[in-house]
Amino acid sequence: MRLFVALEIPSAVRENLASLLASMRTITNEPRWVRVENLHVTLKFLGEVADGKVDAVRSALREIRSDKYVALEFRGLGFFPNEKYPRVFWAAMGASPNLKTLAAGIEGVMEKLGIPREKREFSPHLTLARFERPRVPEALHKIITDNQQRAFGSLRTSEFHLIQSKLRPGGAEYTTVATFQFAPNVE
Ligand code: 2AM
Repeated sequence: MRLFVALEIPSAVRENLASLLASMRTITNEPRWVRVENLHVTLKFLGEVADGKVDAVRSALREIRSDKYVALEFRGLGFFPNEKYPRVFWAAMGASPNLKTLAAGIEGVMEKLGIPREKREFSPHLTLARFERPRVPEALHKIITDNQQRAFGSLRTSEFHLIQSKLRPGGAEYTTVATFQFAPNVE
């Protein structure tokens, strides 16, 4: 099954982004807008994992620990690789340093299970849209500029999730397979 590891975002952040996405959707349907229920912060994309290996993946994820919860502040919008030839439009976040350590820890244990290491540096983001054609319409450019510094909320969490992605004609469908607590409860 196709799997990835991610943080869930709080409903307040989801709702704030939903209102932005709704206004963007009315302006243009040129990029493929992500369904708000699908928004999450990916820590590691595992790709296709044989059924026989899923238990080993779960056991390895159960061992991942951090001293403290991770703290995120959602703010900022941007393009990958750049605005001139965009492939992805995303929301940015500031994160406590242990987020990167957590993602690196997951990379390490997954590599031991034969799941290839991500070549790109870990760069936490929320994908908001994917471009079929690398072009940002002017009206979209304006609304992005207007919302560039908008804060969408924050998150403190000591849990991550193993999520299954089913590719459907209408877009990806995500199901949480398991949840892992990596730090003491958020106080
Ligand atoms: P993205 O949001 O930047 O596209 C499920 O597909 C999640 O895994 C997405 O959040 C996606 O990140 C991430 N992911 C990372 N590498 C991927 C890859 N090679 N193919 C598909 N998804 C990938």
